[in-house]
Amino acid sequence: MRDVQFPNVPSEVDADGWEAIPRSDNGETFDQVVSRAITRRDLFKATTSAALIAYLPRIGQQRSPTPITAFGPPTFEPIEGHSLDQVRVADGHSVDVVIRWGDPVLEVAPPFDLASQSAVAQAAQFGYNCDYVGYFPLPLGSNNADRGLLAVNHEFTNPELMFPDYDPSRPRTWQIETELAAHGMAILDVRRDSDGRWRRIAGSGLNRRITGTTPIAIAGPAAGHSLLRTKSDPTGRTVLGTLGNCSAGRTPWGTVLSAEENFHLYFANRDSLSSGDAQLQNHARYGLRRRDSEWGFERRHERFDIGKEPNEAFRFGWVVEVDPYDPSWTPRKRTALGRMHREAATSVVAPDGRLVLYSGDDIVFEYIYKFVTRSPWTPGDRAANRDLLDEGTLYVARFDHDGSGVWIPLRHGEHGLDASAGFASQADILINTLSAADLVGATKMDRPEDIEVSPKNGHVFVALTKNPLRGTEGSPPQNPSNPRVKNNYGHILELIESRGNHAATRFTWSFFMLCGDPDDETTYFAGFDRSKVSAIACPDNLAFDRAGNLWIATDGQPEALGMNDALYSVPIEGPERGHVKRFFNSVPGAEVSGHAFTPDDSTLFLSVQHPGEGSNLGDPTSKWPDRTTPPRPSVIAIRADDGGPVGRGGS
Ligand code: FEO
Ligand code: CA
Ligand code: CA
Ligand code: CA
Repeated sequence: MRDVQFPNVPSEVDADGWEAIPRSDNGETFDQVVSRAITRRDLFKATTSAALIAYLPRIGQQRSPTPITAFGPPTFEPIEGHSLDQVRVADGHSVDVVIRWGDPVLEVAPPFDLASQSAVAQAAQFGYNCDYVGYFPLPLGSNNADRGLLAVNHEFTNPELMFPDYDPSRPRTWQIETELAAHGMAILDVRRDSDGRWRRIAGSGLNRRITGTTPIAIAGPAAGHSLLRTKSDPTGRTVLGTLGNCSAGRTPWGTVLSAEENFHLYFANRDSLSSGDAQLQNHARYGLRRRDSEWGFERRHERFDIGKEPNEAFRFGWVVEVDPYDPSWTPRKRTALGRMHREAATSVVAPDGRLVLYSGDDIVFEYIYKFVTRSPWTPGDRAANRDLLDEGTLYVARFDHDGSGVWIPLRHGEHGLDASAGFASQADILINTLSAADLVGATKMDRPEDIEVSPKNGHVFVALTKNPLRGTEGSPPQNPSNPRVKNNYGHILELIESRGNHAATRFTWSFFMLCGDPDDETTYFAGFDRSKVSAIACPDNLAFDRAGNLWIATDGQPEALGMNDALYSVPIEGPERGHVKRFFNSVPGAEVSGHAFTPDDSTLFLSVQHPGEGSNLGDPTSKWPDRTTPPRPSVIAIRADDGGPVGRGGS
């Protein structure tokens, strides 16, 4: 996502509002106390040396009893970073483009033609800015690594790279309609042919587009709430479209959980609300624009103008459940999971069968959440799980200075979350989740992006992409889990849930990685020799391979390290734990995202998003993938030449 952010810098944190679990401390209090005693410079020194050591994992405590040889660390030779307009992958691998922006998805789609775009064509073609990629084997329930569905998010648009005559001060109606059609998701039926290449299956009834205008049902406790009712939908139960779909997750029953991330950028004219308007506090807390929106959709659609439709924005910022296997099933916005600028929704099953979903809110100084369903899921019975995500408990994380942490429930009637604080019901908490989290004293993080659970040891890895405002004038200071002033490089935390139970309310945490140039002595790579790792910054998406190695996609390396964004691998256990290696280099202006393995690890799908961002069609900084204009966001497939697992040749 482009770097359009607003800081969560309000705020009177009511540290005493949470008393049921004794607090050893929270970040704000820690820093308020410490910063009175020492300068910010000294604090930084302290947190990156002696004090920081307290939060580094104790050697030996996190080792798994599983033999090290079973983990199969990556064996490829790391590649150098670069700023060239070409992708590069580690030796012994190849890259194929699977689908580009504008390629046909539905049979009715015309071929891509830059000069004759339309909303109708775009709604049948591959959308813009592919982000999340999920591989869903066909048939459902199989582990087929040769045929499956790719579920792909289309996060946002770069009109300056889409339309040759684009004028941001006067976007034309057909351009706005085309952009709305370029949002949402694509479901693609794909097959690996005998030559190893992935090809789309034209005419498959499972090929599908969801756009910024597709009807989507609203489900869960906030469905029908007065704040979700609009002029065009007085029921508050059906919304047109999904926007800002960044990353996602998947359920054990084979649905996608697509996350609406930067939805706040689509809504204009917050300033048109009067100061006494009840909705104003919520819209301000979520960062909705005071005047023009980012893309100007309000010029053609009243629903994006807060002055004309103050409630439409409440219908975005949710998780959208989509069934890639069943095009006839209407997607659902699952309000029980809360409303935020959500990056993803990673699921894991607790010992008692309840589903646990981890999410971060990707804004500076925002929070980390998890949702635990009320009931266990039912294997083998999809119908029984259809409404499972509509009931459960939403928690927000507090990281304490002693390396422990608490999941604080955002439950109506508890810990000050009642009518006296503006929360008349659980639905009010879900619609204004950020303010509820403020109230209970959650820990402000450095832009929590993807969260992933190790399939080997159950540890939870959280990517904090960066926060250049941390500790600067007028912004919150460092706290134990976000120790850097002006965090330009990001870090990764490792959480261990109490007794290994993902539904637990307590956890311990430590640093897995403090990213940056390894020559920088404030970097940390899980204790691995810094001289042997690849430079890495701005971790965004995470995924594990079957051997339990973590793969990290970045978003922001050009500014942080002077090189294109890239994909890295790192073992999380064994003697190679922390050995970060650069595997793939992207092109100028692009982030890499959404990496997903086939069930046998023999293909790694990956999105190259917004190539050329920061330039325009007249002189694009990237002409990838076709060495011509326009650059086209695309999903690629990376394979090992020997047909074995990607990155682990010979293992
Ligand atoms: Fe769309 Fe959080 O990156
Ligand atoms: Ca990002
Ligand atoms: Ca992302
Ligand atoms: Ca992920």
